[in-house]
Amino acid sequence: RMQGLLLFAWHCTRALPTPLLLLLYSWLLSARAGGCPLPCDCGQDNSSVSCARRGLANVPVSLPTQTASLDLSGNAIAGIRQSDFSQLPQLVELDLEDNLLSSVEPGTFALLPRLRALQLGGNCLTVLCPDSLQGLNLTSLSITSCNLSSVPYPALGHLVYLQRLDLSYNPIRALGGEQFHPLPRLQDLPLPGQPGEARPG
Ligand SMILES: *[C@@H]1O[C@H](CO)[C@@H](O)[C@H](O)[C@H]1NC(C)=O
Ligand SMILES: *[C@@H]1O[C@H](CO)[C@@H](O)[C@H](O)[C@H]1NC(C)=O
Ligand SMILES: *[C@@H]1O[C@H](CO)[C@@H](O)[C@H](O)[C@H]1NC(C)=O
Repeated sequence: RMQGLLLFAWHCTRALPTPLLLLLYSWLLSARAGGCPLPCDCGQDNSSVSCARRGLANVPVSLPTQTASLDLSGNAIAGIRQSDFSQLPQLVELDLEDNLLSSVEPGTFALLPRLRALQLGGNCLTVLCPDSLQGLNLTSLSITSCNLSSVPYPALGHLVYLQRLDLSYNPIRALGGEQFHPLPRLQDLPLPGQPGEARPG
């Protein structure tokens, strides 16, 4: 039935402008009542959900509330909002690598108290505003290949449990070691790659 619906949608919407089409398809794909949202793979018990490389323009709606690990990498997601994650109180790991995010609004992750690992690499985040990571208690954060020109200390200061911070492949020139004092548990800070250098792999 879903295939029929999609085929129908394809035939009847070809004339629409592409952004509208993408929206319509992502809505159709995520609107399957109950169960795992169609473009995703929710595994055996819904705890590890992969929606990687599915051409998504938005975070799918009605993800399982048990989701502990969510992979949204390699899509075309250009914006995220607090409501995208409001049904996921169990989330521990969130991978948003290689999308089209250009900013992270304050409070986006504020409803994710259990989140420990966040990957934002490969987006167009030229800056990370001070309140972007508000409400989070991360142990691992990756913001590689994001065109950051400085270490976003004001956004990181409250992450006192942070152990791993990866800022490689950003055009960062100075680290400013003094400023790591508010991050007492930091163990590992890979050296940033050179500006313009390609990321391996
Ligand atoms: C997985 O999540 C879906 C959607 O929330 C739900 O309908 C389904 O019963 C869940 N399956 C398991 C095994 O918990
Ligand atoms: C923050 O995370 C650390 C590491 O998982 C944990 O030990 C600590 O209790 C958490 N703090 C809060 C307020 O949740
Ligand atoms: C990278 O950031 C600089 C400013 O820091 C900006 O001028 C440039 O356009 C950005 N490049 C991309 C690809 O976003």
